[in-house]
Amino acid sequence: MSNTPPLPAYALDQLFRTARTHNELKGEVSDETLRELYDLAKWGPTSANMSPLRLVFVKSPEAKARLAPALDEGNHAKTMAAPVTAIVAYDLAFYEKLPYLFPHTDARGWFDGKPEADLTTIALRNGSLQGAYVLMAARALGLDTGPMSGFNNALVDEAFFAGTKIKSNFLINLGHGDTAKLFPRSPRLSFDEAARIL
Ligand SMILES: Cc1cc2nc3c(=O)[nH]c(=O)nc-3n(C[C@H](O)[C@H](O)[C@H](O)COP(=O)(O)O)c2cc1C
Repeated sequence: MSNTPPLPAYALDQLFRTARTHNELKGEVSDETLRELYDLAKWGPTSANMSPLRLVFVKSPEAKARLAPALDEGNHAKTMAAPVTAIVAYDLAFYEKLPYLFPHTDARGWFDGKPEADLTTIALRNGSLQGAYVLMAARALGLDTGPMSGFNNALVDEAFFAGTKIKSNFLINLGHGDTAKLFPRSPRLSFDEAARIL
């Protein structure tokens, strides 16, 4: 039986209790930090270890310009100003990598030939979980984040994933925020409203 102690209170604050969604993100995020971020997030679990997450870290002015036309107006300025914007995407052809990722058996046959709607459900579920791991890994590394779904997925897919089976899910602005500029935090549901112990 593992005997892992709980994280200290400051770590729980950094990951959850005081971590906020930021609109204004500044500073530098090195390529090394982005690699570190992926190398943490990749360990989060997925079904059959399928790991459908694919990421594009949009950092250069040229790449930001490719992203710009897809953004909703309310997300435009803050995304252009953020040091990095991660495109959190999922690969509908995730099963092609299963012989490596799930070597116990050849699991490709579980998915090959399935209707695209079924593959989307599976890849979106697991890719969204992995997107959340990316958010939490960013917080663990001391970055602030601004997740967004307000954009045109088809335009992003055309600009970044043409000729592949990769589909965009959501975006995350990454950088360093200023807590003083945030509006008061919105409440969350209480345990009794959201959960039951049976
Ligand atoms: C998947 C996802 C999509 C979101 N889309 C947008 C968006 O398009 N634009 C925006 O300004 N905020 C967006 N948000 C931010 C949420 O409104 C914010 O995370 C939530 O209100 C919690 O805020 P807090 O972390 O400061 O408590 C999104 C958040 C998530 C997780």
